[in-house]
Amino acid sequence: MRRTGWIGVVCVALSGCVILGYAGGGFGDAKFVAHRYEKLVREGWPKPFMAFANGANVDAEIALGRTLFYDESLSADGKVSCGSCHTSYTAFAHVDHKLSHGVFDREGRRNAPALMNLAWQSGFMWDGAIQHLELQSMAPIAAHTEMGMTLQDYLSGIKQNPRYQSLFAAAYQNQPISLPLALKAIARFELTFVSDQSRYDSMRRHQVRFTQQENRGYALYQKFCAACHAEPLFTRPEYEYNGWADGLRRVDSLGVGLSGLDRGRALVTGLVADEYHMKIPTLRNVEVSFPYMHNGAFQTLYQVVKSYSGKRLVVRGESGGLSKAGGISKVGGSGELVGSGESGEGYQTVIDISLDANERVDLVVFLLTLTDRKFLYSKDFVDPRQSPRKGD
Ligand code: HEC
Ligand code: HEC
Repeated sequence: MRRTGWIGVVCVALSGCVILGYAGGGFGDAKFVAHRYEKLVREGWPKPFMAFANGANVDAEIALGRTLFYDESLSADGKVSCGSCHTSYTAFAHVDHKLSHGVFDREGRRNAPALMNLAWQSGFMWDGAIQHLELQSMAPIAAHTEMGMTLQDYLSGIKQNPRYQSLFAAAYQNQPISLPLALKAIARFELTFVSDQSRYDSMRRHQVRFTQQENRGYALYQKFCAACHAEPLFTRPEYEYNGWADGLRRVDSLGVGLSGLDRGRALVTGLVADEYHMKIPTLRNVEVSFPYMHNGAFQTLYQVVKSYSGKRLVVRGESGGLSKAGGISKVGGSGELVGSGESGEGYQTVIDISLDANERVDLVVFLLTLTDRKFLYSKDFVDPRQSPRKGD
């Protein structure tokens, strides 16, 4: 373990030099990110849903977005910013909080998800209620339990702060300060959260070799988990059910939703088939993004893996997404696939998960290879007041 940490530090130092030479900026530098993502697509990542903008002012847009992301004065009690619930060193999850905490200590109804590789996502929130990253920010700004503002007050808060005059001018020249521009800048900053420098990535690039235990865990992951948490993003742009409400949802037999459980995707589509289906969270950086699940039900990865053991899960995929993700062939070869084929609702695969005590540990050890310390410790993602960049 200690050795891995040490290598990580060297890598950070090296990349710092390389990046400085490349674009004169940092890790979150837009030109660098755009370049890096083109490389990622060549390396076999899917095409992102959102483009990384290139252009003269992108760095200024990111600087503006970053300032807004960490500005708690733009909340109802002056204490809560996006960064309060999305902390960079926990992959932008909210460590130690099962359910999110917003202004005046109001408790939300869900766990704050980790934020990364957002350009590759087509739906946001656990139920996918929001389709576009630039619109997403409006929800926490206006939510009673998050920042508790009206959009009008948010905008006037920005206009009243002289610091934003120059930040907006640098990013958007003579366009007047407006809400759409503020939302755009926040999204620009969020798009720089690209995590692709884990030990797993180095293994894929043939820079390191996995230990035997990591390889055993990787094989178990491919057998039982990859159909939903598919490589290389360790998610798929779909909503699935991982068994979290088993046992509990029987209470619902009188009628949907009576048990007070979070209905997930069904809240958006109204379809019974979507009851309790959730956005598939990425497994990247999952070592640090606890507590887990939409309701923060688990504290440790071992608990998660144990909870999966013995479960029978139906992977359905929407619009053929499963076959695109390549999950079927991997799962199919394992002998654990008990049935798959066309049903009324499309393609379905059934996976029976069984993991003995040793296998659970192997699987957790594999999950730890998805930690990207360069991403977690990047100075470009922290509150700019902690780490001023040139020109800030
Ligand atoms: C009080 C805590 C809190 C604050 C403040 C907050 N968020 Fe969140 N964030 C959450 C929670 C909880 C969710 C999941 C909401 C849901 O599923 O309904 C979420 C979801 C998201 C998502 C979607 C992630 C995904 O994988 O679908 C993004 C992006 C995001 N937040 C960005 C922001 C931005 C930008 C701000 C500031 C404008 C912000 N958040 C402020 C708690 C918070
Ligand atoms: C049928 C699809 C499916 C399969 C198969 C599956 N998962 Fe999941 N996984 C999900 C969904 C959906 C969630 C979110 C559930 C929730 O929020 O309640 C999730 C959540 C998680 C989380 C929590 C992540 C976070 O940030 O909160 C972890 C860790 C996880 N899964 C690991 C695994 C492992 C390990 C396996 C294999 C043993 C696996 N999953 C198999 C769909 C699946």
